[in-house]
Amino acid sequence: MIEEILPPEVASAEAFEDDRDGRLFSEEEAAVAGAVPARRREFTTVRHCARAALGDLGIPAFPLPPGAQRAPRWPAGVVGSMTHCAGYRAAAVARTSRVHSVGIDAERDEPLPEGVLEMIGLPEERAMVDRLAARQPATSWDRLLFSCKEAVYKVFFPLARRMIGFDAVRVDIGGGGRFGARFLVPPPTAAGRAVHRVTGRWLGRDGLLLTAVALC
Ligand SMILES: CC(C)(COP(=O)(O)OP(=O)(O)OC[C@H]1O[C@@H](n2cnc3c(N)ncnc32)[C@H](O)[C@@H]1OP(=O)(O)O)[C@@H](O)C(=O)NCCC(=O)NCCS
Repeated sequence: MIEEILPPEVASAEAFEDDRDGRLFSEEEAAVAGAVPARRREFTTVRHCARAALGDLGIPAFPLPPGAQRAPRWPAGVVGSMTHCAGYRAAAVARTSRVHSVGIDAERDEPLPEGVLEMIGLPEERAMVDRLAARQPATSWDRLLFSCKEAVYKVFFPLARRMIGFDAVRVDIGGGGRFGARFLVPPPTAAGRAVHRVTGRWLGRDGLLLTAVALC
């Protein structure tokens, strides 16, 4: 599914269940020592996805422990992103020569818990969610807004190396599975240029909402 919303420069892999015998590198093991089994399984499976996607780029198996602010440490010359939610794991990677940064996110297509939309959505975004819900009530547009912001954050962080809040980005969900996002804080830079806006794609299918942003 995820490859449908990524450009051809980005390699990806996904899984809909966990392999219970999944192996980790020792530095990855250290990161999940003491984690509950469910966390260990998602951590392991998504790294298998990442290694499969890296393999498509011709890069051999490589340890992927969490780095600063939990962002994964990719091999030199590679950008990437990982995501997991109940019943889904995915990773996307690309050469830095082709892509500046990539962010993917997966969520169950279910409404956000009570009160969360108010925490993550700007007033204009909440109005957009209401409009979209009136037109197409089967999709959890509030959850999709959240997912867009998470994908944008995963693009932003590796470039800017700082955290931002949900009010730092304004998202516009458009037709045809596309969305745009504008930074309301000092923007990140890529190849020496400020990146004020990014565009992404989304897909809703089989109870999942997937979002992807590739900054090429
Ligand atoms: C980091 C964060 C984006 C993860 O999103 P999530 O929906 O909770 O979880 P997902 O399964 O989709 O993604 C988890 C993966 O994201 C990656 N990740 C974690 N921190 C990251 C960061 N700072 N930058 C990029 N990727 C990161 C990791 O690979 C992680 O998987 P792992 O722990 O197995 O390595 C989220 O937990 C978070 O901290 N959000 C707050 C900041 C934010 O979103 N601001 C909104 C800006 S508009």
